[in-house]
Amino acid sequence: MSTATAKAVRQLHFELPPLPYAQDALEPAISAETLALHHDKHHKKYVDTMNELLSKTEVRGSTLEDVVRSSQGKLFNNAAQAWNHGFYWQSLSPKGGAPSGALRQRIERDFGTYQSFCDKFAAAANGQFGSGWAWLIDKDGKLEVVATPNAETPMARGQRCLLTLDVWEHAYYVDYRNQREKYVQAVIEKRLNWEFAAKNLDAK
Ligand SMILES: [Fe+2]
Repeated sequence: MSTATAKAVRQLHFELPPLPYAQDALEPAISAETLALHHDKHHKKYVDTMNELLSKTEVRGSTLEDVVRSSQGKLFNNAAQAWNHGFYWQSLSPKGGAPSGALRQRIERDFGTYQSFCDKFAAAANGQFGSGWAWLIDKDGKLEVVATPNAETPMARGQRCLLTLDVWEHAYYVDYRNQREKYVQAVIEKRLNWEFAAKNLDAK
């Protein structure tokens, strides 16, 4: 058997996932214009650049999570941003609301009150200097709020992510200009997807 046939290299390629709702579904908290730019231009660019790099790189594994966890540098930045954005779209919902059931109990156990969680999440999102993300994670059985810079993601460290909020300027500049805190407040009050968070908490 020739080396070429023995070592068939699988080419990894990922598609841009569609938004899970219409472009205007998150208004007025996030406008259709922002979603069009953010998903169709920014997210797409990360996916395209990742695919371009993957066409020249051998990576262990087959999922996007595998690529994020096993890469560094430019490939990591683009793959992590591809994953973070897919997770972010699902972290938002036109329905909004507040957590209930077992997730509500966990939030009250680990943060004291739901309001206290909201305050911590907002502080993490507003306090992230420059570009990055705020996250609700389950770290070794305890819910925590963390912020990460640039493309960094708790998923790469094997931590279970429940929700995220993109605080790169492209997420809010069209709607709120420099007022990140207004975007953060609007999303926390009206657009977090608590059903998605509960599903992630339950996932094994
Ligand atoms: Fe973004």
